Amino acid sequence: MLEDTAINPLPEINPVSGSLPTDGPVLEIWGGHRLSGLLPVSGAKNAALVVLAATLLCSDECRLRNIPELVDVGRMVQVLTSLGLKCRSQGTVWDIDGRTVDRAEAPYEIVSKLRASFFAIGPLIARMGEARVPLPGGCAIGARPVELHVRGLQSMGALVQIEGGIVHAAVPGGRLKGARIYLDYPSVGATETLMMAATLADGETVLENAAREPEVVDLANFCRAMGAEIRGAGTDTITVVGRDRLHGTDYAIVPDRIEAGTFLIAGAISDSELSVGPVVPEHMTATVAKLEAIGVKIIQDGADVLRVVPGDRRIGTDIETLPFPGFPTDMQAQFTTLLTLSEGSSVVTETVFENRMRHVAELKRLGANIRVKGRNAIIEGVPFLSGAPVMATDLRASAALVLAGLAARGKTTIFGLHHLDRGYERLEFKLQNAGARIERLDTPDSQAPVPETAATLS
Ligand code: EPZ
Repeated sequence: MLEDTAINPLPEINPVSGSLPTDGPVLEIWGGHRLSGLLPVSGAKNAALVVLAATLLCSDECRLRNIPELVDVGRMVQVLTSLGLKCRSQGTVWDIDGRTVDRAEAPYEIVSKLRASFFAIGPLIARMGEARVPLPGGCAIGARPVELHVRGLQSMGALVQIEGGIVHAAVPGGRLKGARIYLDYPSVGATETLMMAATLADGETVLENAAREPEVVDLANFCRAMGAEIRGAGTDTITVVGRDRLHGTDYAIVPDRIEAGTFLIAGAISDSELSVGPVVPEHMTATVAKLEAIGVKIIQDGADVLRVVPGDRRIGTDIETLPFPGFPTDMQAQFTTLLTLSEGSSVVTETVFENRMRHVAELKRLGANIRVKGRNAIIEGVPFLSGAPVMATDLRASAALVLAGLAARGKTTIFGLHHLDRGYERLEFKLQNAGARIERLDTPDSQAPVPETAATLS
């Protein structure tokens, strides 16, 4: 009986070069090297993207700090620039001048490269009275529909039409009205879209069954720093009283809890004592709890540093991804890697996205013993993994493969780095500085055979 392990379709042909992404840069990792010192954590990607979009609400200048230098951040800035904002950066500091927004349409060629560009729709319609934003397609991990965003804007008085792949929203009279909105699912994006739209609406908006993620709270804190009136962010009920305009501010976003969690696993999987920071400890509760269940000790070292102290053995455990404060889906692939090298059986259940097990086929190429049944990955721990060429299929799958390479015997070559560069800032430099033997090569070493994904093997 064929297992229904997710079959990774062949990587998409690069529309420009016409070739497989295997001709792009690769990471070569030699396993078995201990790490030490401090792995530095950058600003949170999933706070940066939505806070950048929220500058559309501000008819003034804003200074944003701790913004990670990521491909996705660059793409979001392109969207803002195309709408008329003036954006300047100095490293991780961005100055955004939102005094003139001269377009209400985000261009397809940019939006198609960054799903998060859809975050522009809420601020645009709140500021301009209308918005034309391409419908984001699905992605590697799922269909990712946006009907909760659209329905919420309609509750606030927006007329929405979707034609030719463009979501055209307009509000008669030019100003949204506050509304009471119940979200069928505590969607992070829908909560953020509607919270932003509500900051300039006429009257009070109440979002019920809202997402509680730390990035939602960070967005609320940024909007409040611009003068918005928001209560309840971080709970399942958020109340916003609309303002006529928002003023400029100087705001630093939170550290990336997913990058921090990835680094804690890097220490655990390489049997290294390692510090990771800065972190906000209360953002890491589920990740730390699961690491300790596996047998990894995590010690708080001062206000914003966690230290990982590997135990003498790692025991398998079960994981189920859930909305915050449940276990984060963005840590699922990375934990799956750690569990392949933990004793006994583990079951990982992905309840948030319908297709977020594509790293499994690649981990099996490294010798992992995993079976996928529906949304469950059933893992039997193995004593070691063996390096091989593997293909990254999405952002967090890439991180999972890097972690596997740190522990595997021999060399692991990771293709498809464009996924990794979207969400991890200078990952190979950070790991190199901590003692890993990892290198980015512009073209794969000629001996490295192009990894055949499960699709081509079957
Ligand atoms: C955000 O995506 C994050 N992205 C994701 O991080 C993260 O995995 C996700 O939240 C969950 O925490 C950014 O913040 C840029 P959702 P988002 O709306 O907002 C369904 C990463 O790796 N849904 O909470 O898209 C949806 O299909 C990325 O950094 C609807 O059905 O997540 C999914 O199954 C990946 N209809 C579930 O809800 C809607 O209208 C959760 O999606 C909206 C969502």
